[in-house]
Amino acid sequence: MTSAQCSPSALEHVDRMLRFNAGDSGIDASEAQPRTVGRVGVIGAGVMGCAIAATNLSRNLPVIMADADADALARSGRTIPQLAAELAQPEPPCEATRAGVVLAKSEQEFAPCDLIIESIVETLEVKRKVLQRVEPQLSADVVIGSNTSTIPIVQLARGLAAPDRLCGIHFCNPVRYRRLVEIVRGPQTSDLTIATAVAYAKQLSKLPIVVRDNPGFLVNRILFPYLSAALELLSEGIDARQIERVALSFGMQLGPLGLMDLIGIDTAFYAGRSMYDTFRDRIVASPILPALFKAGRLGQKKGIGFYVYDPNRAQPEIDDSLSRYVEQYIRQRYTLSDEQVEIRLLVPMLLEATRALEEGLVRAPCDIDLATIFGLGFPAERGGLLFWADQIGAAAILALLEPLKRLGKRAAPTALLLQMAAENARFHRPE
Ligand code: NAI
Repeated sequence: MTSAQCSPSALEHVDRMLRFNAGDSGIDASEAQPRTVGRVGVIGAGVMGCAIAATNLSRNLPVIMADADADALARSGRTIPQLAAELAQPEPPCEATRAGVVLAKSEQEFAPCDLIIESIVETLEVKRKVLQRVEPQLSADVVIGSNTSTIPIVQLARGLAAPDRLCGIHFCNPVRYRRLVEIVRGPQTSDLTIATAVAYAKQLSKLPIVVRDNPGFLVNRILFPYLSAALELLSEGIDARQIERVALSFGMQLGPLGLMDLIGIDTAFYAGRSMYDTFRDRIVASPILPALFKAGRLGQKKGIGFYVYDPNRAQPEIDDSLSRYVEQYIRQRYTLSDEQVEIRLLVPMLLEATRALEEGLVRAPCDIDLATIFGLGFPAERGGLLFWADQIGAAAILALLEPLKRLGKRAAPTALLLQMAAENARFHRPE
């Protein structure tokens, strides 16, 4: 499956998508003009909040930062300007970077902001409380974006006086290397909010795509079947090194286990649980993730997860003691070829992408290709998930699904794929 899919036209396809995206306002059939964003408030000085704040500073947008944890907030005052200066390179630090971040003692200090990003812990009740506390401090035209990975915007908007000003502004981790930003349109979100969020993301040199509200939006809808497949492979006795090697040799920037370490095992667990609650027929609740979580192996931020991150080694390595957390959960052992592992990792993502198209989550198939390349580290030289699938063809993909029948419903062909195979159709029209 691997070798046949690299196509020189893939990079042309990527180039075309980028050019289209640059001119896209994110709204159809509306004259809404984006509001100017000159100052940004960030709530949550964790991994993501700090990276988002630094990105803003590096683009000369002053930031006001808040966090419930005074130590985390104080730390962020030191780390954010450093990170912003690194991001600005080779240019010298701009005025906002030099001025640093303003640390807020109360929500009232957000009053001068034009846009707020909430990036606190992934728990509905906590996020809702914070949003309801902040909203009255803001003037009517301020846009509020949540960086939630999985929680529907409609649920976060409940209790807000002006739910039309709330949208998802979902950055991808690591923020400095992943250009994609999902702008999530809730049922009440206004065109003005969407246009402002899209223009703001472009101000940060990011690549915004507008997606319809649903648990996991687009990026995590596609990501979780990939992560879930990797955990399932582990519990079938497939070696962690084989899983990672196959993903990397396909061209993924990170293997699924390395990616979970980067996301944070705790965050992956919470977000995975929220995805599992909604999509029980597609995600396998693996006991391996909670076992690592309980053991404090939270991934890169703790120096150990699936991998061990030893500063004295050039590359992180799968930790030998990982087997302690995996072996007890192996029920039946399989031996799979690299090609079989590749299919197990990639085809679930593709099936989920076809479901996203069926549900109208994106405005165009190109947004799925942009999301996978610039949000999930899918290889650009394969043109994105759907472009890659077009090179294989719908009928051949159905054939790849045949041996996966034992996995049940989640590996069953979708209606869209069956129809495409019958009509010999493609996701993208050939240029
Ligand atoms: P984190 O655990 O590193 O940081 C969360 C921060 O929120 C902590 O500093 C905590 O003190 C603060 N906090 C908790 N409750 C608070 C409250 N009531 N008021 C103010 N601050 C509060 O988490 P991380 O990874 O930065 O995630 C933050 C958000 O970003 C979550 O919604 C997550 O789903 C989302 N996200 C995470 C990604 C990842 O890969 N880690 C990727 C994209 C989005």
